[in-house]
Amino acid sequence: MNRRDFLKVASVGFGTLLVSGLGLSLINKPATGASANAQAAPVLPTAADVRQSIVVITGSPHRNGTSALLADKFIEGVQANGHKTFRFNAAFENIKPCQGCNACRQNGPCVLNDAIEKSLIPQLLQADIIALVTPLYYYGMSTQLKTVVDRFYSHLRGFDGKKALLMATAYNSAGWTFEALVDHYQSLAEYMHWQDLGMVLGYGCGSRNATERSEFPQQAYQLGQSI
Ligand SMILES: Cc1cc2nc3c(=O)[nH]c(=O)nc-3n(C[C@H](O)[C@H](O)[C@H](O)COP(=O)(O)O)c2cc1C
Repeated sequence: MNRRDFLKVASVGFGTLLVSGLGLSLINKPATGASANAQAAPVLPTAADVRQSIVVITGSPHRNGTSALLADKFIEGVQANGHKTFRFNAAFENIKPCQGCNACRQNGPCVLNDAIEKSLIPQLLQADIIALVTPLYYYGMSTQLKTVVDRFYSHLRGFDGKKALLMATAYNSAGWTFEALVDHYQSLAEYMHWQDLGMVLGYGCGSRNATERSEFPQQAYQLGQSI
C-alpha cells in the first residue's frame, strides 16, 4: 500500500466514525417529574452521553520514543473531547506470553495472573475503543504489543464489536513499509469483529526529532479529536 492508498484507508475509517458518532448521538433520556406528562421533547445529548472509554496499548521499550509521541498526541486529542483513557505500556509491565494451555477455555480467567490479566483485561472488556500503538519491528508489531494481542485469546469473543485503530512508526519511508503490519491489523480487526477507526502510519520516523518535525503527531492528535 502506498501513502495515497493509506490516506484512502484512513479516510474510510474517519467516515465510519462519523456514522457511528451519529448513531451514538441518537440517545433519548426518559422524561421525569413534571415534564413526564408533557409531550416528550427530544433531549439533546450531553457530553456525558457520548463519553467513550478508550484503551491505548503501547508496544515500545522507549518511554519517550517515536510511537510514544503518537500515543501522547492521540490521548491529548481524545481527552480534549472529555473521553476516558486507560494507557497500558506493555514494555514496562510484568507480562508473560500466552502458553496455549487452553485452561481459560477462551473465556478467562488466564492462568498467567499478571498485569494483562489483572489490570488490562478488565479495562478492555468495558472499553469502546482499543488503540494499538507500536514501532515497526521487522515489518510487524513489536513483541511487547504482540504479547498483549495473543493474550486476547483468553477472552476470545469478549472484545467483539469494539472499535479499533492503529498507530505505528518506522525508520523506512518507502511506500510498502507498513504493508505487512496493515495486513495483520486488518485481519485482526476482521477476526475480532472490530470497526476500524483509522490508522496513523509514521513513515520516516526513525528518531524522536524526525517524528516531531513530521506531520504524524498532528495526525494522531486529529484522530483522537475525531472521537
Ligand atoms: C528490533 C528492531 C526492528 C526494527 N525493524 C524495523 C523495520 O522493519 N522497518 C523499519 O522501517 N524500521 C525498523 N526499526 C526502526 C524502528 O521502527 C524505529 O526506530 C521507530 O522509530 C522506533 O520506535 P520507538 O521510538 O517508538 O521505539 C526497527 C528497530 C528495532 C529496534
